[in-house]
Amino acid sequence: MLREQFPILNTSVYGHPLVYLDNAATTQKPLTVINAIDDYYKTLNSNIHRGVHHLAAAATELHEQTRRKVQHFLNARHSHEIVFTRGTTESINLVASSFGKRYIQPGDEVIVSGMEHHSNIVPWQLTGATLRPIPFSDEGVLDIDAFSSLFNNRTRIVAVNHVSNTLGTINPVKEIVRIAHEHGVPTLIDGAQSVAHMRADVQDIGCDFYCFSGHKMYAPMGIGVLYGREEMLQELPPYQGGGEMIKDVTFERTTYNELPFKFEAGTPSVGDTLGLSSAIDFIESIGIDNIAAHENQLLTYATSQLLQIERSRIYGSAPNKAAVLSFLIGKAHPYDIGTLLDKLGIAVRTGHHCTQPIMDRYGISGTVRVSFALYNTREEVDILIKALQRIAPMLD
Ligand SMILES: Cc1ncc(COP(=O)(O)O)c(C=O)c1O
Repeated sequence: MLREQFPILNTSVYGHPLVYLDNAATTQKPLTVINAIDDYYKTLNSNIHRGVHHLAAAATELHEQTRRKVQHFLNARHSHEIVFTRGTTESINLVASSFGKRYIQPGDEVIVSGMEHHSNIVPWQLTGATLRPIPFSDEGVLDIDAFSSLFNNRTRIVAVNHVSNTLGTINPVKEIVRIAHEHGVPTLIDGAQSVAHMRADVQDIGCDFYCFSGHKMYAPMGIGVLYGREEMLQELPPYQGGGEMIKDVTFERTTYNELPFKFEAGTPSVGDTLGLSSAIDFIESIGIDNIAAHENQLLTYATSQLLQIERSRIYGSAPNKAAVLSFLIGKAHPYDIGTLLDKLGIAVRTGHHCTQPIMDRYGISGTVRVSFALYNTREEVDILIKALQRIAPMLD
């Protein structure tokens, strides 16, 4: 049984079996991933890339094998286009910092979408650029005509998410990249909410950068990925300085290591890399298309059930949606709904979900967000709906 591979799903909260519906925040980890990390520390722990001894060589080999696995997972052209980071946030900061130093002057512009996570807004603001957000409809669909009209000779990069963590919208990233490239502008895609739920093929999308976090795809926290097109990465200055990213150091001058090591200063989180490797194996053993189909069924069912609850409103009803369901009931504060659900063992997220501009767009302070993963079931949706029916009369 799939769920048996996730020990935490067998636990209870306040005497109720845990119903975990906060997967957009982080997914739970299967035993194979937990064991991969455990095995590393029990049998292989050593610092990689710099040792002649057996442990260092063996750990280096597994670490670099993972890079090749990620390359195939994203269908990147080369393994040196895969840079390990701590997560999506660090990947975006790396690009904003390095790309910003090279190409962004005060007064230049960065196009983002109106539905970005703060981590795809703030790093660009730190470059001194002016942000130009792509507007979106009430349903949560980006206005592509408006997007096309945002370009001018100060536009330096387009940075948009593949899937919105609040509205669930799957954005037409291939079309967005095509339009940006027609204007001669490079692109970064934030894949934090896509890689665990749908195929992400960087060559098909055609983007220059793609970012994701391991912990949202069944891997541990502390490991993430930046894919960068080779020609693009070659042009960028390093992000951080330190060991591993250098070729030669004197007090006068330093030359930098080749890709991808130029962007990987210091000791990497090897145990977490091996956890990521195991998580990719896990996803591939089930099949990303099977995962997408299952989560889609849950989303369709949960949406229809939720709409039957009196005074419920869903935020985000794009025709092309991933397994995220944001909603409110009447005038109730999302925090109150979340707290009452928690008492029944149901874990959901409440608040602005690090997307305050979306909340401003709808004139609300936050939502309740349910988000599905491959281990969620129809029965869990029924438990959620029953709980909401029970608590709805207690609200406002
Ligand atoms: C769309 C999106 N981008 C970026 C992030 C940031 O990811 P992390 O905190 O793992 O760096 C998140 C996390 O929720 C997200 O949903």
